[in-house]
Amino acid sequence: VTIAPCTKADFDQIVSALPDFWGHDRNRSLHHPMFVNELADSAYVIRDGDTVAAYLFGLVATAAPVGYVHLVAVRSAYRHLGLARRLYDHFAAVAASRGCTQLKAITVPDNAGSIRFHTSLGFELEGTPNPDAVSVIADYAGPGLDRVVFRKALGRSGGTTHPVA
Ligand SMILES: CC(C)(COP(=O)(O)OP(=O)(O)OC[C@H]1O[C@@H](n2cnc3c(N)ncnc32)[C@H](O)[C@@H]1OP(=O)(O)O)[C@@H](O)C(=O)NCCC(=O)NCCS
Repeated sequence: VTIAPCTKADFDQIVSALPDFWGHDRNRSLHHPMFVNELADSAYVIRDGDTVAAYLFGLVATAAPVGYVHLVAVRSAYRHLGLARRLYDHFAAVAASRGCTQLKAITVPDNAGSIRFHTSLGFELEGTPNPDAVSVIADYAGPGLDRVVFRKALGRSGGTTHPVA
């Protein structure tokens, strides 16, 4: 498995295939071109031939400083192979090398797959339980827009908890 920077061609392929990665294309506007332009050093893909199998768009936020994962997704046919974990491990090492002490990500409260995935990677959920017993920060994304907020401390090596084969 090789992790490579996301090129413009990769980005175009991803945006053209959102339903295969997400099951819908409602988050198209979250795929901002700044990730292959201004943030190209923290946007990665794993390819199978010419096919983008998985991607992670992150950024190193210097104010906190925190490694923030904006989007991570794996095509349906490539799930449960450890690809998202590999991408997270890689980004964790990059973020740690740039002075970050934490990783952070958010999702919507009904994305159970994302919550299970992040929990299995050792992330903790901030906030307080909602009526469905999912910990959320109320109004995080605006009035009525609660979000699950994941946070994980980074070790000096990047916090990798599983060996990368
Ligand atoms: C969430 C997602 C990125 C996981 O990708 P993946 O490559 O299948 O995940 P991995 O194979 O690296 O799994 C890592 C761990 O998470 C767990 N996991 C991943 N997806 C899971 C799911 N849907 N339900 C339960 N556990 C899950 C795995 O069991 C694994 O733990 P383990 O290795 O200790 O057994 C993928 O399902 C996806 O693209 N979903 C749609 C997009 C999305 O919701 N992205 C997250 C938005 S914040």
